[in-house]
Amino acid sequence: MDSSFSKIYQALLLLVVLWGTSGCNAQLSTDFYSKSCPNLFPTVKSTVHSAITKEARMAASLLRLFFHDCFVNGCDGSLLLDGTSGEKNAAPNVNSVRGFEVIDDIKSAVENVCPGVVSCADIVAIAARDSVHIMGGPNWEVKLGRRDARTASQAAANSSIPPPTSSLKQLISSFKAVGLSSKDMVALSGAHTIGQARCISFRARVYNESNIDPSLAKTRQRHCPRSRGSGDDNLAPLDAHTPTHFDNKYFKNLIGQRGLLHSDQQLFSGGSTDSIVRAYSKNPRAFSSDFVDAMIKMGDISPLTGSQGEIRKNCRRAN
Ligand code: HEM
Ligand SMILES: *[C@@H]1O[C@H](CO)[C@@H](O)[C@H](O)[C@H]1NC(C)=O
Ligand SMILES: *[C@@H]1O[C@H](CO)[C@@H](O)[C@H](O)[C@H]1NC(C)=O
Repeated sequence: MDSSFSKIYQALLLLVVLWGTSGCNAQLSTDFYSKSCPNLFPTVKSTVHSAITKEARMAASLLRLFFHDCFVNGCDGSLLLDGTSGEKNAAPNVNSVRGFEVIDDIKSAVENVCPGVVSCADIVAIAARDSVHIMGGPNWEVKLGRRDARTASQAAANSSIPPPTSSLKQLISSFKAVGLSSKDMVALSGAHTIGQARCISFRARVYNESNIDPSLAKTRQRHCPRSRGSGDDNLAPLDAHTPTHFDNKYFKNLIGQRGLLHSDQQLFSGGSTDSIVRAYSKNPRAFSSDFVDAMIKMGDISPLTGSQGEIRKNCRRAN
């Protein structure tokens, strides 16, 4: 009797050891700072709220920061590190990602209430959630406990973040590379219900593509000159109808061939994701619920935990 008990015990022990070394993200949890920083959530939210009150677009910019952080070696705050060879200067980010001053403001506010406790990577995750909720989108519990990287990778940022010229096949494979399904990819692309893109990101689409609503093409051409180099930074809303409201209009736009980016319209262009786009366009609750699931999954991409990395004091540099 003792020997069979001990065998079961050994098997259980082995399981625990395997679990611990399997690299699963069991360490992230929604209550990670509940004792060490009980006022974390209201502190972040009030800073996010005032930044969005000043400029509605900031919600979009903060949401995008989370995506561009997580896709490059996981959600580890690497995008926030200053330096010419950092991720800020990578092709998908330069002259484009924004919101770093708001992250600094949040970090200062958080350091005031609980110094040295909360990672910059987690602050980005909470700010993205708050931004979506403040713009009228869903709310959810964010998993926390990520630690900050000491280094950034510009090469990885160049290769891991998909460009707007991507085909559907390329989009699916760049999300698959970080463990996200094509359904996650479509749901997360619904983030383009808010925010702006530069002319350089959509010029070829509005001048050269045939699967675009002619009236949208004409309207966008007006502030986006045909010739390269002129007006490259002129902005247009990704969702022309409700650019400061987090809703499912993005998917309705795709059905009407009103996707602004080539990559947007790829999601509804006769391929395997058409049915998902159709479903989200008809059912805002299905979109909300899949968006939340996918945001949580994206937030689980290879976090640093335990004694890995550090808790940065200043989000712009390693301690
Ligand atoms: C599916 C692949 C994706 C591609 C190819 C893509 C590409 C782009 C591009 C080119 C822009 C405009 C940048 C500029 O012109 O400066 C943009 C903006 C934006 N993207 Fe994406 N994106 C993708 C997925 C996502 C995801 C997964 C999220 C978040 C969950 C996201 C959130 C945003 C937001 C909110 C903006 C507007 C930012 C602002 O106004 O500051 N995107 N994206
Ligand atoms: C990343 O892309 C930018 C812009 O195309 C380029 O200047 C830079 O050299 C690239 N960096 C690396 C490390 O590949
Ligand atoms: C449109 O396509 C033509 C032919 O491929 C190309 O020469 C031109 O540069 C493109 N124009 C834009 C605005 O992308």
